Amino acid sequence: MRAHEAGALHGNDAAPTWLPYPSDVNTLIDGLWSRTPRRTEDGAVEVGGVSVARIAEEVGTPAFVLDEDDFRHRARAFRDAFAEAFRPLAGADVYYAGKAFLCGAVARWVEEDGLGLDVCTGGELAVALRAGFPGERIALHGNNKSLAEIRRALEAGVGRIVVDSLDEIDLVDAIAAELGLRAAVMLRVTTGVEAHTHEFIATAHEDQKFGLSLTGGTAFEAVRRVLVAEHLDLVGLHSHIGSQIFDTAGFEVAARRVLDLVAQVRDELDHTITQLDLGGGFGVMYNTQHTPSTPEALASGIAGIVEKQCHELELEVPHVSFEPGRAIAGPSTQTLYSVGTVKDVRLGGPHHRLYVSVDGGMSDNVRTALYDADYSCLLSGRVSEEQPEVVRVVGKHCESGDIVVKDEYLPADVRRGDLVSVPVTGAYCYSLASNYNHVPRPPVIAVKDGEIRTLIRRETEEDLLGLDVG
Ligand code: LLP
Repeated sequence: MRAHEAGALHGNDAAPTWLPYPSDVNTLIDGLWSRTPRRTEDGAVEVGGVSVARIAEEVGTPAFVLDEDDFRHRARAFRDAFAEAFRPLAGADVYYAGKAFLCGAVARWVEEDGLGLDVCTGGELAVALRAGFPGERIALHGNNKSLAEIRRALEAGVGRIVVDSLDEIDLVDAIAAELGLRAAVMLRVTTGVEAHTHEFIATAHEDQKFGLSLTGGTAFEAVRRVLVAEHLDLVGLHSHIGSQIFDTAGFEVAARRVLDLVAQVRDELDHTITQLDLGGGFGVMYNTQHTPSTPEALASGIAGIVEKQCHELELEVPHVSFEPGRAIAGPSTQTLYSVGTVKDVRLGGPHHRLYVSVDGGMSDNVRTALYDADYSCLLSGRVSEEQPEVVRVVGKHCESGDIVVKDEYLPADVRRGDLVSVPVTGAYCYSLASNYNHVPRPPVIAVKDGEIRTLIRRETEEDLLGLDVG
């Protein structure tokens, strides 16, 4: 269900069935937090060895607090799990999907940890290049790349441009010719598989803007054209089926369809496609409803699928790459807010709900309003012995759909000045942030071993006013 455009999900006066009544409302629920958070003796949460009170004092709120060890641990876990599972086959590597969250420091961590980087705009490419990310480990995506983006990517020597349409084949070929070089391209294939969370649909999801459709032979025609293009080298085929996915069923169908095309290309064009990219999409735990797989389980599951299908089609197993974004960045970060107004709203009869307003909102996390996402939160500046109450955490923006956490239990004495942490905000929160209502965007700070490091500074009113030159 989507939030009503006029506002909140009114009338929901009880906790949703998925939300368990907490035995201890002060507990950091297992799996919801990055690696380092814990309660200290005074009751405050610390992360990366830094207490949230110190962060609030030194950095202010709202703030994105990124647990550096957590991010890097997850990046390496994906790198190692896929390398290990595909080692007996033709190998695999992992590209971090920068759209989830990208800044210079993250690009450098990803580089040092040996992953590739997936960028999908000139802006993301610029961040990567300024951070010194090696061009050959960058993949450029995008359904509507500009000529300037393609040119810049080729000049930077990107390892692959993932071509998304038939006309882009001609564009990349022409720009490569102009620059006097050859462009390494992958072709993004639309497999008709659409996966989200626990479900996937394997038919009729072609009605969208991405990729080259298998239906009607468009993808095959694209392969043919790349193979005859003078300045293009075909690296392989690409498929991305969706995001926040928890099992491998969708990957199985998608891989099968892409491998059928590999077999068709072998049979009809006498060409061997040696690489496959199966995209990203691995799900994370935003609340107790979600049960993500480990990187190891995902990697071995998908390796088994690819091996079996190649065997059935009598194909050599290709080298496979993956592009996780959310599963690396998401759990690394919590957003720290200060509580302002708390309102006890009567809902009719005996029912009421505490509306807890924080100093950010849909400008720093639009996922609740946009995707009806269910986040969780915790009173992080202190512990409380009061009984748990169902609350709704809302922002400071001028619309009632400005909800950060739809349903959660917080102690009944939550009040102005309290600190509240919302976990798993590392992916698609800062990267989707806006200046709605002229609210400056929060900073992103990294915490590690008791140190705070600003990765992206807080936006100021001067920044906003500086854009207004009319
Ligand atoms: N590769 C490609 C080609 C993609 O389009 C995406 C995500 C990824 C990899 C990374 O997917 P991940 O592992 O992060 O799920 N704003 C939405 C998510 C949009 C995902 C777009 N593409 C959200 O907040 O849920």
